[in-house]
Parts: sequence; structure tokens; C-alpha cells
Amino acid sequence: MSRIGIAVDSDLLKRFDRSIAKRGYTNRSEAFRDLIRDRLVAEQTAEPDAIAVGTITLIYDHHAHGVSEKLTELQHANHELVVSTSHAHLDHDSCLEVLIVHGRAAHVRQFADRLIALKGVQHGRLVTTAPQRVSKNGHPHKQSD
Ligand code: NI
Repeated sequence: MSRIGIAVDSDLLKRFDRSIAKRGYTNRSEAFRDLIRDRLVAEQTAEPDAIAVGTITLIYDHHAHGVSEKLTELQHANHELVVSTSHAHLDHDSCLEVLIVHGRAAHVRQFADRLIALKGVQHGRLVTTAPQRVSKNGHPHKQSD
């Protein structure tokens, strides 16, 4: 663990403290660490060749012409990216589908874009992340470890 001191504008710090309190952080250091990790994961998964894991969340009306078939077709055509899917019938019309995906970041992004762009899909979102290597004492490994 390294200790660092940061100079922050008092008003900015007040706003940050309010924000992290709302999110349930009891300690400022953990909130800073999570911000740093979030930035690093975003950079990591922005690399097209990086391996990304994540979820694609889709809302669609299963009555929309051909949408169920097209979703199934696209998923079979990209089966190597799909780890699992979960489907919930929200009401008479609406379906919620969540796919767990794993693969090259660029392929995952392209796959998500195609699903979300399908006519009949009302809303969709891809969330990517990447596993962080953590040693037994809970501290992240350096690349050379
Ligand atoms: Ni359904």
C-alpha cells in the first residue's frame, strides 16, 4: 500500500464527500481507489484487442416483427462471445434479455451494437469490465508478478 497526499479544491472535495456518502462509502480512500480502478478498466477495455467481459442488456417487444428470430440468429452467429443469457418476460409485451459476453473488446462492442440496432429493440446497453488480478493478500499484482 502506498500513501499519497492530494491537493483538492475545498468545494470539489465537499461535493465529492457528499457524492460518496450517498453511494454508501464509509471511507474516502476506497472511493478514490474505485475511481482509479474504473478509469483503468475503461482504458483497458477501450483497447480493441483487450479481452473484455461484460453484459449486454436489451429491452424489446417480442411482438415486433422478426425481432426474437433476429436476436437468436445473431447470438448463434456470435456464440463464441456469449457465455450465457437470461430472459425475463416483463409484461404482456416487453422482454428483458441480459447476455454475459466474453471476448475481444472490439468484437464484443460490434456484437452489442448490432443487437442494439435491431429494429424492435427499444433500449440496450453494453457494460464491459475486466478482471483485475489480485494476490492472496488482496493487493493487486504488478504486471511482472
Ligand atoms: Ni419474453
